[in-house]
Amino acid sequence: MSTTEQRVAIVTGAARGIGAATAVRLAAEGRAVAVIDLDEAACKDTVEKITAAGGKAVAIGCDVSDSEQVEAAVTRVASELGAPTILVNNAGVLRDNLLFKMSDTDWDTVMNVHLRGAFLMSRACQKHMVDAKFGRIVNLSSSSALGNRGQVNYSAAKAGLQGFTKTLAIELGKFGVTANAVAPGFIVTDMTAATAERVGMGFEDFQAAAATQIPVQRVGRPDDIANAIAFFTGEAAGFVSGQVLYVAGGPLN
Ligand SMILES: NC(=O)c1ccc[n+]([C@@H]2O[C@H](COP(=O)([O-])OP(=O)(O)OC[C@H]3O[C@@H](n4cnc5c(N)ncnc54)[C@H](O)[C@@H]3O)[C@@H](O)[C@H]2O)c1
Repeated sequence: MSTTEQRVAIVTGAARGIGAATAVRLAAEGRAVAVIDLDEAACKDTVEKITAAGGKAVAIGCDVSDSEQVEAAVTRVASELGAPTILVNNAGVLRDNLLFKMSDTDWDTVMNVHLRGAFLMSRACQKHMVDAKFGRIVNLSSSSALGNRGQVNYSAAKAGLQGFTKTLAIELGKFGVTANAVAPGFIVTDMTAATAERVGMGFEDFQAAAATQIPVQRVGRPDDIANAIAFFTGEAAGFVSGQVLYVAGGPLN
């Protein structure tokens, strides 16, 4: 890549929440960004935010758990923006329930979006990264990887993503590709709003209660996570690989 060429980033689940903040942040760092989510129309706001600030972005509808859709999306990114060499596997869903009430579908859906999705996207993008001898993969894990009541599916997927990340780092390091995981704590998004609803609490009260348990005494915002992802995807982070960074307002391990 010449110094004038723009690196191309893919952010999945970027229609809203952490993914949207990350797409906007990476565009502000000079990346051309593919904003991927289930529904192309839902990506419009994120794309408009980027282009209004003078950045470059395209909206692409894709279910990351579907192999054919992933291949088609990555091919489209390569032809419309250029070879994707930055990938943020952020798309996620919750299907919380206690083990004895959890359905097969609750289990499979969470595994498919988080684990299969990250696998399919990484496999589709790695050839572009290997050709470019440069790549940055960031996978969204979670503090729930350490265990969380009602989330046996989600915590297994988020812990799985940590092993996935470390193995990508080992396999792809010799091609100039790093892989790291960011594991957020409580971040204010539609996802945590849905959790508040499930446990029967108002979202404001839910946030206030969470903040009392967090050493910095506040809940996180999507930009808190976008900042960490921007570091891992940066040119300067080439010697940082296979790491899991908890971004949770306090220590977790
Ligand atoms: N919010 C938190 O507190 C928190 C904490 C830890 C980890 N995370 C993780 O961060 C990531 C983003 O979370 P968020 O809070 O912004 O969630 P969110 O629910 O606000 O956004 C998730 C996005 O992913 C998209 N998505 C879901 N399934 C998809 C699929 N199959 N293909 C493509 N897109 C799909 C959704 O449409 C949505 O736009 C997730 O992986 C989540 O598990 C969030």
